[in-house]
Amino acid sequence: MTRPKVIVTRRWPLEVEERLASQFDVRLNETDRPYNRSELRLALREADAVLPTVSDRLGAELFTDGVQAKILGNFGVGYNHIDVAAAKTAGVVVTNTPAVLTDATADLAMTLLLMCARRAREGERELRSGKWTGWRPTHLCGTHVTGKTIGIVGMGRIGQAMARRCHYGFGMDVVFYDSQPVADPGMPARQLTTVDDVLAVADFVSLHCPGGGENHYLINSRRLGNMKKSAFLINTARGDVVDERALVNALDEGRIAGAGLDVFETEPVVPRSLTERDDVVLLPHLGSATNETRIAMGMRVIDNLTAFFEGRSPPDAVS
Ligand code: DGY
Repeated sequence: MTRPKVIVTRRWPLEVEERLASQFDVRLNETDRPYNRSELRLALREADAVLPTVSDRLGAELFTDGVQAKILGNFGVGYNHIDVAAAKTAGVVVTNTPAVLTDATADLAMTLLLMCARRAREGERELRSGKWTGWRPTHLCGTHVTGKTIGIVGMGRIGQAMARRCHYGFGMDVVFYDSQPVADPGMPARQLTTVDDVLAVADFVSLHCPGGGENHYLINSRRLGNMKKSAFLINTARGDVVDERALVNALDEGRIAGAGLDVFETEPVVPRSLTERDDVVLLPHLGSATNETRIAMGMRVIDNLTAFFEGRSPPDAVS
């Protein structure tokens, strides 16, 4: 029997590539640079399955005539870079990798929160540049975390994992917004009625909702104005959830204290208005970047492909 032809748009961990090659007729992207639009277009017309990542934009224009692919196995949980409706119309099933990256992403959100609170980036830079003059009582004092309020926007798996870390690990009070009622968030926590209610009371706001759609610019100028002046914004969700220009203005005007960002509006380009300031901690989309998690993500993609080509429902179909 001929094996399904699979095109992988970026290099994956070795053990995952090996398992993939043992089951499918695989074409890897040896260069590991992002495919451009025509390469993606061609891939959809040449392969039975295409395995993209967040750095591949798969808009409706790619799903017009001649698509041969039957499944898009996204290497990641977020899939707002794929026009799922257009894929469905073209007969392409889309799958993602939920659950396996929950802890890694929550850990990174916590890292950003602590780095913001404790001015870790400023301290590290000062030390490396040889400007540290020694211990003194008023040196680089940050803000206490214990006893403060974390506001979670999006109380799905990752939001809950972040809330657990904040509550059980750091003694924080938890409030959250979710568009759905969350009966058992897994720790003492108050669900508030609106995003604004959360922003008004939180000392740290951590975003864990999907990007795109109605969440595009959820955190805009007006909402930033609702936050406490002493509060920090943490984003490990998607860049487009935050209006970056509005964020820069809010920081300039002292309307919030700082931000920790792992995702950006136009990745991998990050505006100098962000990179040149001291009151933000910036990471290059590392939320799920542990070896264990990336292997688990790849294995999950293969589980979905295997199910699909064996005629079963892929466990993580999103369409
Ligand atoms: C995810 O899984 O959504 C990560 O952000 C990488 O795409």
